[in-house]
Amino acid sequence: MSDTLINEVKTKFIEIFNQNPLLVFSPGRINLIGEHTDYNDGFVFPAAVDKGIAAAIQKSDSGDCTAIAIDMDSAISFDLDALRPLKEGSWENYVLGVVAEIKKRNLDIDDFNMIFKGNIPFGAGMSSSAALENSVVFGLNTLFNLGLSKQDMILISQKAEHHYVGVKCGIMDQYASMFGMANHALHLDCRTMTSVPYKIDFKDHQLLLINTNVKHSLSDSAYNDRRAACENISELLGVKALRDATEADLETIKNKVTPENYQKALYVIQENERTLKAAKAIEDGDLETLGALIYQSHEGLSNKYKVSCDELDFLVEQAKKNKQVLGARMMGGGFGGCTINLVAKTEAKAFAKAASKAYKNHFNKDCSVYFVQLANGTHVVK
Ligand code: GLA
Repeated sequence: MSDTLINEVKTKFIEIFNQNPLLVFSPGRINLIGEHTDYNDGFVFPAAVDKGIAAAIQKSDSGDCTAIAIDMDSAISFDLDALRPLKEGSWENYVLGVVAEIKKRNLDIDDFNMIFKGNIPFGAGMSSSAALENSVVFGLNTLFNLGLSKQDMILISQKAEHHYVGVKCGIMDQYASMFGMANHALHLDCRTMTSVPYKIDFKDHQLLLINTNVKHSLSDSAYNDRRAACENISELLGVKALRDATEADLETIKNKVTPENYQKALYVIQENERTLKAAKAIEDGDLETLGALIYQSHEGLSNKYKVSCDELDFLVEQAKKNKQVLGARMMGGGFGGCTINLVAKTEAKAFAKAASKAYKNHFNKDCSVYFVQLANGTHVVK
């Protein structure tokens, strides 16, 4: 599937710029469990997938830079010496933000042209934004021999999102997209930024994503609010991050925080625990336990952390009605995007069909079903 994408951006690039481009594929990600724990210095469990962004990129001698988004049928030209963010919600900010962060490091880049196209929709909760950022930084690093390590590159991508997009994201998405390994999920410690790869073979079970195809507004400000609430509570507790706190610690300050924020911190502490337990369950091949943890994760995201929405809750309810689905939860930042489901292989298609039908009946709109493979991280395509 990514072959077609790569060919498309290559052909288009040659057509428009009359040059052979460098080709980069940068994947989106899923996350088994560990949601909203990354910016609390905690554990997450993501994997890169076989869907993402294909980018064609090459030096330019036209005196400025051009980036073209085939999906959006949109283009921008910019001057490397006059970078600034555009209005909120513009795809351009992901590209401009990465370039600005590279320049902040006083690295020597020159004009370039770039064309990209993706096969995960923006807002699906599968990190098309991290995939795009990583494709830009990886492409520029290769093109201009910047000598950046993968660690450097993901920090640049993350800062681009903080400063140009305005979302104070953690490191999970950029890490998974950059460091992904085929057939593996990464048990990532977001404090040390090191991960242990887990081979994922669920035998007679598989993962299945269902996209609600909604992205409720306010999700960015809600994200930043959650992060701020977590940081306030860590400060009250006198710890560096919520990763360092226990439920018992939280009890000691219960009367100093609002009930809502107490619930949010409780969710984070519990989700971090669940992520460690999930790693153990995978080691033991105990899918029942893994599934139960995934359902608990959703319960916390929805009722305590309050980042779900009706559409996501509905799809998780559909999963619960089917005994062959061991676990389901919303994935990513929330307020829309996908659910991730752990389902028996023999039941996957039937479940997807039934859930889609129920969704259509209830919301009068379509959801989308994705079967994904766990794949390698950002790389140059030869
Ligand atoms: C978004 C952010 C990530 C992470 C998730 C929630 O995808 O970009 O850093 O916080 O939400 O787990």
